[in-house]
Amino acid sequence: MRYLIAFLGIFLVSCDKVKEIFQEEDLLKRPIAQRCGDCHQEIYQQWKNSRHALAWISPEFKRASENYSKERCLSCHAPYEINIGEKPKLREANLSDGVNCVSCHFKDATQSMHGPYDVFSPPHPSTKNLQYTKSEICSGCHQETYKQWKSANVEKNCQTCHMQPKNSKLIQKFPFDLFHTSKEVYYHGFVVPTTKPDFFRVQIIKDKDSTTLYITNLKVPHNVPTADHGSPKYYIDLQFFKHGSLVYSDGQTITKKEAFVPKQTTEIKFNTGFDYDKVVVKISRKLSWEDSPKKIGEFEF
Ligand code: HEC
Ligand code: HEC
Ligand code: HEC
Ligand code: HEC
Ligand code: HEC
Repeated sequence: MRYLIAFLGIFLVSCDKVKEIFQEEDLLKRPIAQRCGDCHQEIYQQWKNSRHALAWISPEFKRASENYSKERCLSCHAPYEINIGEKPKLREANLSDGVNCVSCHFKDATQSMHGPYDVFSPPHPSTKNLQYTKSEICSGCHQETYKQWKSANVEKNCQTCHMQPKNSKLIQKFPFDLFHTSKEVYYHGFVVPTTKPDFFRVQIIKDKDSTTLYITNLKVPHNVPTADHGSPKYYIDLQFFKHGSLVYSDGQTITKKEAFVPKQTTEIKFNTGFDYDKVVVKISRKLSWEDSPKKIGEFEF
């Protein structure tokens, strides 16, 4: 059976007619993501649960763009086509699909799907394009984060951390899945990894009337919080104790303006003209679209 399939495979590859027979014309007309999901089922399921899928219909975006009336806000949230280093143009159709498959993969210039591989894909033409394996592909929209990442000068790219790959197939549809071997498939949920306490170095220096907190971003190669738009936040909460009882608490909210820059140390001063023998520093984070903060870690001094 395996030989038969392999033989059939080789026969089909060598046959130009096959492209004509299998080509599905509507795929070249920028369909909604669900259509791509007919074959790319796994990737579609991942994308469907991503923030990119919600970029247009997100209630926060609807509010912040004043019900889609602020024109300059719209194009990155429902782009037509992406090109390196350029703010994309607004799409005309299927706006509620947000940042969808065709906005990242389909190019008018070649009338084909661009991606990292050299593939045989009868339903639609494909073009191998190594830009997809680099951070630059994210730069037209995540402009600020990209600049921060660039100056951090690290090897790991956006995809390494936000699209961690695993070995799988690009498609889950008969009969195509029989002819295609497994490859590295990058996770299309575009997740924000869990921030761990050891991503930061936290130090405290106590003076007569004040206490200074030093926080260093050791591991994230862009600012935290980082945002082009939206308002993610960090919260630093301090609790001062004497003989086990709480005597005072204070805190600071960190917006993208005061963000922790890679490898740099931020200094925050608190007035503490009182006596204490223990201080607990709690760090929490709220992503742009989240309602409430989640704790990252607690440090005791
Ligand atoms: C066409 C513009 C565009 C491109 C290209 C793009 N993004 Fe996004 N991205 C967005 C928008 C808009 C959002 C916000 C969606 C929302 O929450 O409303 C977003 C959200 C995200 C988030 C979620 C942030 C959070 O707070 O949960 C991550 C992670 C992300 N993008 C990673 C990437 C990576 C990695 C790339 C490159 C492979 C990329 N993006 C390319 C527009 C883009
Ligand atoms: C250059 C592309 C670009 C433009 C233009 C843009 N955004 Fe965004 N927006 C993004 C990206 C990328 C994110 C992902 C969040 C991040 O960077 O952490 C985002 C996230 C957001 C979020 C948080 C996610 C959510 O759904 O709650 C809001 C709100 C938002 N944008 C509103 C706006 C508004 C209002 C404007 C116009 C003033 C605007 N955006 C213009 C790229 C863009
Ligand atoms: C009828 C099935 C089918 C549909 C529908 C389909 N594709 Fe594909 N696609 C394929 C096959 C087959 C391959 C090659 C798979 C392989 O070699 O492992 C492929 C490969 C790809 C690649 C990889 C290209 C590269 O060079 O790395 C991308 C990107 C892609 N498709 C995007 C899309 C998008 C976007 C849509 C929706 C507009 C879509 N596909 C709809 C069958 C399909
Ligand atoms: C070494 C891994 C790593 C790399 C490389 C990386 N990130 Fe991140 N990114 C993270 C971590 C960890 C977080 C969560 C930080 C936090 O707690 O706010 C994050 C958060 C984000 C967020 C959510 C921002 C917020 O504050 O809500 C966006 C958007 C994002 N990254 C985009 C990018 C883009 C675009 C690139 C490439 C230019 C990139 N990241 C490169 C690890 C990485
Ligand atoms: C924000 C941009 C973006 C969106 C939206 C997006 N992709 Fe991708 N896709 C990428 C990038 C970047 C890669 C290459 C990752 C790498 O190799 O480093 C990729 C890779 C692929 C590949 C090749 C296999 C792999 O994972 O390397 C296929 C197939 C694909 N995408 C299909 C889809 C489909 C189908 C959708 C919609 C359900 C979609 N993509 C949505 C950016 C995107």
